[in-house]
Amino acid sequence: MITVNRSKKLSGYISIPGDKSISHRAVIFGSLCIGKTTIEGLLESEDVHRTIEAVRQLGARVKRKNDKWEVDGFGVGGFTSPENVIDCGNSGTTCRLLMGAISTTPISATFIGDKSLSQRPMDRIIQPLSEIGVKCSAREGSFLPITLEGTSSAMPSDFESKVDSAQVKSAVLLAGLNSRGATRYVERKLTRDHTERMLMFFGGKIKTQKTEYGYYHSLEGLQELKPQEISIPSDPSSASFFIAAALMVEGSDVTIKNICMNETRIGFLKVINKMGARIEVYNKKAVCGEPVADLRVISSRLKGVKVPKNIVASMIDEFPILAVLAAVAEGKTEMRGIEELRVKESDRIFSMATGLRECGVNVSYGDDYMTVEGVRKVKGGQLINTFNDHRIAMSFICLGQVTQKPIEISETISIGTSFPGFIEKFKEIGANLSS
Ligand code: S3P
Repeated sequence: MITVNRSKKLSGYISIPGDKSISHRAVIFGSLCIGKTTIEGLLESEDVHRTIEAVRQLGARVKRKNDKWEVDGFGVGGFTSPENVIDCGNSGTTCRLLMGAISTTPISATFIGDKSLSQRPMDRIIQPLSEIGVKCSAREGSFLPITLEGTSSAMPSDFESKVDSAQVKSAVLLAGLNSRGATRYVERKLTRDHTERMLMFFGGKIKTQKTEYGYYHSLEGLQELKPQEISIPSDPSSASFFIAAALMVEGSDVTIKNICMNETRIGFLKVINKMGARIEVYNKKAVCGEPVADLRVISSRLKGVKVPKNIVASMIDEFPILAVLAAVAEGKTEMRGIEELRVKESDRIFSMATGLRECGVNVSYGDDYMTVEGVRKVKGGQLINTFNDHRIAMSFICLGQVTQKPIEISETISIGTSFPGFIEKFKEIGANLSS
């Protein structure tokens, strides 16, 4: 448990750990090459360690050497059956991407996860994989544990996304890498495209076209990838907590370096820009196929906003922290088309609405929406349940910087899944936190 007190002002330069999505993919793509891939800036969080452990069980050698990581892979289609179950912990990305990646190799593996992951939907992965002849036996309701038996005779396939999910897209594309013929996947909205970018960075080929139905990706099977030296930019989702805190706490001026500015990840920056956030973007450059920049954030008075539905996919992990900003903004903020939040590490619509209401904020919500009435002075003074969800914990730690009374946070262990060192870094720029 931690107590969060109001902060005077936040200031200074801060660096954020590596992007979580890109880190998982760097380890997986490294394992799909014969030879040594070197990774700089890998996020060393609980979730990414699950992916490292999983690819080791599947035959790759992964080790830390000084401040870099080395992955010695087995090549596309080179997975070997693991001796033990693959425990994905809390990490949906580990589980879903690896299910796809191994599915076109004739091996068998059983995936398990923690309580939260065992309640998250897996039919979205099982269904497309079954279409290409992969056998998945899951607990009733299509939940983990799942035993997957890969196929060596996957046929060329056409898929249409039923949900806007980069994890599903990536699972299908990774499966396609070792299929015969072409794999095509169409998604209504362009979800984060790190898999496509990294595939090209590792020497693979993929085409993406925008059509009237959405984004059409096509990939030839049996590709060979080449090991690379890769550098991972900082995680914009992790940065969003410090951005929000700096905006809310009066007199703050914080600079965050080397943030991944991929168009499919910056919906949050676009929305807060509309709310009146003062943010300067500079030092723009490209690193290993991803755009990056430094951001200077200056405290700002915010107004409520209607989040456009077409931006939801590009800020899917930032809704908890947006709800916090909405609570201190002037007027109402409306978030619609956010049903995917119901199946994240917790039911994030419910988790945020519950905590904000405890703090005295008016929130209404339904299956796929949430509206928050800004109050500028949020009461606080309560114990907040994080529902063991890292992003809920970090969101309320940010809100506690400005509540009238200190708030207590039920646990902070979950933060390690995506942002180890969050509390220490927050203190470095002036946050007033005591455990
Ligand atoms: C991720 C995709 C998103 C996101 C998750 C990471 C990824 O999930 O919420 O934190 O790395 O592909 P969905 O693809 O299920 O939306």
